[in-house]
Amino acid sequence: MPPETENQIDHLLGQMTLDEKIGQLNQYFAWGKLDPELIRQGQAGSVINASGALSGQGFSGSGNAEISNRIQGMALETRLKIPLIFGRDVIHGYRTVFPIPLAQAASFDPGLAEQAASVAALEASADGIHWTFAPMLDIARDPRWGRVAEGNGEDPYLGEQMSAAVIRGFQGEMSAPDKLVACAKHYVGYGSAEGGRDYDAGEISEPTLRDVYLPPFKAAVDAGVGTLMSAFLDLNGIPASANRRLLTDVLRGEWGFDGFVVSDWDSVKELIQHGVAEDEAEASVMALRAGVEMDMVSGVYLKTLAASLQAGKISLEEIDEAARRILRIKHRAGLFERPLTDTNRAATDILKPESRVLARKFARDCMVLLKNEGNLLPLNGFRKILVAGNFVHAREELYGSWSPDGNPADITPLDEALKQVAPKDVELRFAAAPDLALSRAHHVDAVVLVLGEHPLRSGENANVSDLGLPPGQAELVAAMSALGKPLVLVVFAGRPLAIPRQVAQANAVLYAWHPGLEGGAALGEILFGLESPSARLPISFPRATGQTPIYYNHKNSGRPVTPNGQFKSRYVDLPNSPLFPFGYGLTYTSFEYATLNVSDTVMRGSLEISAEVTNTGQRAGKELVQLYIRDLVGSLTRPIRELKGFQRVALQPGETRRVHFTLTEEQLAFTRADGARGIEPGAFHVWLAPNSASGLRGEFRL
Ligand code: GLC
Repeated sequence: MPPETENQIDHLLGQMTLDEKIGQLNQYFAWGKLDPELIRQGQAGSVINASGALSGQGFSGSGNAEISNRIQGMALETRLKIPLIFGRDVIHGYRTVFPIPLAQAASFDPGLAEQAASVAALEASADGIHWTFAPMLDIARDPRWGRVAEGNGEDPYLGEQMSAAVIRGFQGEMSAPDKLVACAKHYVGYGSAEGGRDYDAGEISEPTLRDVYLPPFKAAVDAGVGTLMSAFLDLNGIPASANRRLLTDVLRGEWGFDGFVVSDWDSVKELIQHGVAEDEAEASVMALRAGVEMDMVSGVYLKTLAASLQAGKISLEEIDEAARRILRIKHRAGLFERPLTDTNRAATDILKPESRVLARKFARDCMVLLKNEGNLLPLNGFRKILVAGNFVHAREELYGSWSPDGNPADITPLDEALKQVAPKDVELRFAAAPDLALSRAHHVDAVVLVLGEHPLRSGENANVSDLGLPPGQAELVAAMSALGKPLVLVVFAGRPLAIPRQVAQANAVLYAWHPGLEGGAALGEILFGLESPSARLPISFPRATGQTPIYYNHKNSGRPVTPNGQFKSRYVDLPNSPLFPFGYGLTYTSFEYATLNVSDTVMRGSLEISAEVTNTGQRAGKELVQLYIRDLVGSLTRPIRELKGFQRVALQPGETRRVHFTLTEEQLAFTRADGARGIEPGAFHVWLAPNSASGLRGEFRL
């Protein structure tokens, strides 16, 4: 931060009254009932979901930017004219809705995620939004949890890469008018909630916290993220919104974070429900002292901090430091120079044609081909094809969870979109109802079932106890399979579903997640071979709900499972292995790996790892070469595999390329029992692989 800005902030702070300082710490929610006096009295530092704040109050502003400017105008009438920062959940696109974040992670393409976040910032800022509550960086190992849809899956390395890219996309030079302040959330460990139940408690050891759950947040801070959001979670007995060690000692002391932390919705006040605070005053002091600068909508800071200061429960320095951090981010976001939004931008910056093109490419690059028996896909040579299932006329269902600003009218329904991209000599027929689908199936050459979960079964407050397809859909797959027609199953979902039977019954399976605005056309381009699938799974797919939590980078145990082994870590009724492993995905061609080379038997600083990859199929394709290691012996038990790199390589049929990685000592470091991070000498395995369950293995010593 340039010194003049710090001096400006200190100067401003020196002029502020106690009430004005506490006002900055309050994020105000006022859907349809905004109180202008609260703003004019300087009792809010931020407004969440401002676009709805004046609805029903007769304000005829044509767009959200006008509404934002009208409310900002109230703040500029205050004594010190401190601008508000307007926050909103712009999670995977704004009006141009991109695939859900879990789908974006499946692309293993941080560059694409950065471009999409940049478009989201362009559109949301044009609508008067300054701050998005994204990216969500929670590592998730239990797909019963609905919010697995919003994160980057189970792997910390992939999480780090996506985190830094999305923050660069949202923030760029934070002060630019077409950028947003980002918010790394939910700090930390929210995905560990027991039973996959939102808001529940989680237990995470320090080494696992440091090496699995924290890395994407560290990457966010290193990428300059302006804010973080504290989680609802009771983590190891301390609610995350009152965890001073993590919010202050780690985040600021170790990582040097100089922005501010906003609580999650009401999570300051909920410290009372958690049972760590007697009342709102104690909850406020506890959260502020822990390192939560802004109270999201509960109002308890506004209500109690002045009295707590009076009573000596909190110091003026603590209140000043919180206000200072909020003012610093407002400065960094350019709000003091440019508090109002140019209302002409919305007409040109929102839903630009090139944004739609990006949305379609991203949707294609997120879809994972899980099975393709007899190369049924791409569909060629079938004249009459039936498309059937609950997604056949899908519109807003394609958006997925957390797409409040997506407009269904912008979407071409799935059936229409498929018709637009299908070859001219293909006749598509459609049926949503199962019995109609079964009767029509007799008269076609192939069937594509488009099934899956409605977005309301995904995201926050949408946890499931059964990972099977939603009711009625498995029956349709079974009945359709019994007809013996070539059968493609397309699944739309915000989480991995346990669908072993359906995978066996279909000849081909494509996982389309919730692919966003252009999902229909993107699906058609993949199904008819205009484009090829290249995505890989960012999360393990269980065979059954009973296998959760399930993830690839697990420990070995003293009795690792062996085929038919007794007294091993196993189930009597299922293999331990997932239905599909992390990193898995097929393409329309095939690849072979050969001649793994490790540059030395002993690592001194770094090693070069390489292998030849050949496209052994008939079509061009892109392979995602993944680098994994295993630390065979450590002072703590170590995961059986850890992703340390990935590269996409495009190869023509018959083409061979040697793919190179550099592996460094630092990448072998881990957190030991005493909490210190470091490397330990010993033997390692290393793989270059197409997924986390196979590949060419080499070894070296450190
Ligand atoms: C919600 C979510 C959080 C979101 C916030 C504001 O409860 O937990 O992710 O950003 O409230 O909508």
